[in-house]
Amino acid sequence: MTLQGKNILITGGGVRLGRQMALALARAGANILLHYGKSTSEAQDTAAVIQSMGRQAWLIQADLSNMEASVSLVEKARKQGPIFAVINNASIFEPLRLADVDPDNWQRHLDINLSAPFFICQSFFNGLGPDEKGRIVNMLDWRALRPGVDHLPYTISKAALEALTRTLARSMAPRVVVNGIALGAVLPPVDGSPTDRIIEPVPMKRWAQLEELDQTILFLMDGPEYITGEIIHLDGGRHLV
Ligand SMILES: NC(=O)c1ccc[n+]([C@@H]2O[C@H](COP(=O)([O-])OP(=O)(O)OC[C@H]3O[C@@H](n4cnc5c(N)ncnc54)[C@H](OP(=O)(O)O)[C@@H]3O)[C@@H](O)[C@H]2O)c1
Repeated sequence: MTLQGKNILITGGGVRLGRQMALALARAGANILLHYGKSTSEAQDTAAVIQSMGRQAWLIQADLSNMEASVSLVEKARKQGPIFAVINNASIFEPLRLADVDPDNWQRHLDINLSAPFFICQSFFNGLGPDEKGRIVNMLDWRALRPGVDHLPYTISKAALEALTRTLARSMAPRVVVNGIALGAVLPPVDGSPTDRIIEPVPMKRWAQLEELDQTILFLMDGPEYITGEIIHLDGGRHLV
């Protein structure tokens, strides 16, 4: 029960996988600093479910394409007490090939998927008290280091976030452990892309179960502190193919 009463900040926690992890951590005893961007009613609903478990849930809105908002997000979160951990989950995922990339969509991916996590991590680390320790998990993607031709700015932003994860693990040791979860097929995209083709090349021949994500995030939040700079692939072996 070591997460009992600890405050965990999760970005994009109102919907989909962010909500899934927020609820898993709340079930394990944590209080949730629930960041959201546009999904106000979904975030309110997630917060209500957490509160119904007897945990605290605080809603914090911020547009993560704005770096000042990213930094002040951590400052706002800290008003509720010490932050034990941060999960950088919020992300954009646009189907852009080489010919589709322009300075605007390129910069948007780097801002939301890479710069925001960096400044959130930096602000979290800088605000730790002298005796405080912490944990960070960055949400990555198996394809970051196995690039295809689609989702080009997304892939580059996640590859850089993976590099950042290892860099921060060194820079923040021994006080904060920093790890990543590289996901494969967990939840189909909301744009209605065909889904059966996605699992065809997956060695495990199926989608991940959401409970497997719960187990992985709980392990990194509550498991051995001696694991840092690690990227766990929750992708059914997809990165090996
Ligand atoms: N789904 C999968 O199977 C899969 C596979 C590989 C990797 N991943 C990674 O796992 C993580 C979660 O995946 P998901 O599918 O649940 O993501 P998603 O459905 O795309 O959710 C994105 C989240 O990011 C937030 N967000 C986007 N732009 C924002 C902005 N400008 N400001 C603030 N918040 C913003 C959204 O918040 P609002 O809705 O409140 O705006 C939303 O909560 C992501 O990092 C993704 O790259 C997922």
